[in-house]
Amino acid sequence: MSWIRASTLNWIQFLCVKIIKSGRVPKHIAFIMDGNRRYAQKNNVRKFEGHSQGFDKLAETLQWCLDLGIPEVTVYAFSIENFKRSQEEVDALMELSQQKFERLLSEKMFCCFARDKLMEHGVCIRVIGNLSLLPQNIRKLIAQAMILTKDNKKTFLNVAFAYTAREEMAQAVRTAVSGVERDALQLSDVTQQLLSNCLYTSTSPDPELLIRTSGEVRLSDYLLWQVSCSCIYFADVLWPEFSIWHLLAAIIKYQRSYAQLVPVQQADEMANGCLNERISLFHTCLAASRLASLEELNHAVA
Ligand code: FPP
Ligand code: MG
Repeated sequence: MSWIRASTLNWIQFLCVKIIKSGRVPKHIAFIMDGNRRYAQKNNVRKFEGHSQGFDKLAETLQWCLDLGIPEVTVYAFSIENFKRSQEEVDALMELSQQKFERLLSEKMFCCFARDKLMEHGVCIRVIGNLSLLPQNIRKLIAQAMILTKDNKKTFLNVAFAYTAREEMAQAVRTAVSGVERDALQLSDVTQQLLSNCLYTSTSPDPELLIRTSGEVRLSDYLLWQVSCSCIYFADVLWPEFSIWHLLAAIIKYQRSYAQLVPVQQADEMANGCLNERISLFHTCLAASRLASLEELNHAVA
């Protein structure tokens, strides 16, 4: 299955989406797509099949988000902790990701633009995580996908891959420290806002809603910095069984708690100070060096 499918809403779902859209819809939703292996066990299929159906559900969910007018989605596809799973499962997940990124890129090369859903919907794909932990062929595909879609501005899909929030924070601190060491920054420039801008998610607004499936009520080292003011929704369903009704229920919960979320979010925004010229220059250089690393990966021999 492709990353973006055609809309498949029936009339009752279409009507419900329309009603929900008349209220406030989150601009950014993050997902923890949990429960693929339990789904495989429950249905007597191999783990790989559970993950493969998990990807199909991701594609379906992205289409629902487009139907709902949600411009940004972040998904937890592979945590650094997942490297501790059996070699067979890690290899299978890498193989699945390789296939999906290859498909994404080949659709651009071999299909006409009408079929090229990602470009048609203006989807910008960003992979957040420590790419150096991934096999070279996948790093190259990721770099190609990010470069191909980098100028798309309508919708954003962030894929957390080889990601944990604590690793992200550690690398942000290292980036800031190296700025101070080479006198690009002063120690007093190292603020909450500077660190936010050194995270992998620096170009994204924080998620307004986080949804975790499978009934587990943990954040599992996912976007810990970014969800401090978000509405969190735990759905008691395995990820491949997630339906539009679960998504709509989560959005209704968000809409009902929105009045309480606003003052918290406003206080958080006020805590961010002004950027001085030195900090702005540091961020510009950081963005340029990240793009240069992607270009380097893109040209590397896989
Ligand atoms: C969690 O379920 C799911 C994962 C660790 C992998 C999720 C990956 C995908 C859906 C494919 C995404 C691929 C791309 C390229 C975006 P689990 O394995 O923890 O299942 P369990 O909780 O039942 O053990
Ligand atoms: Mg799990």
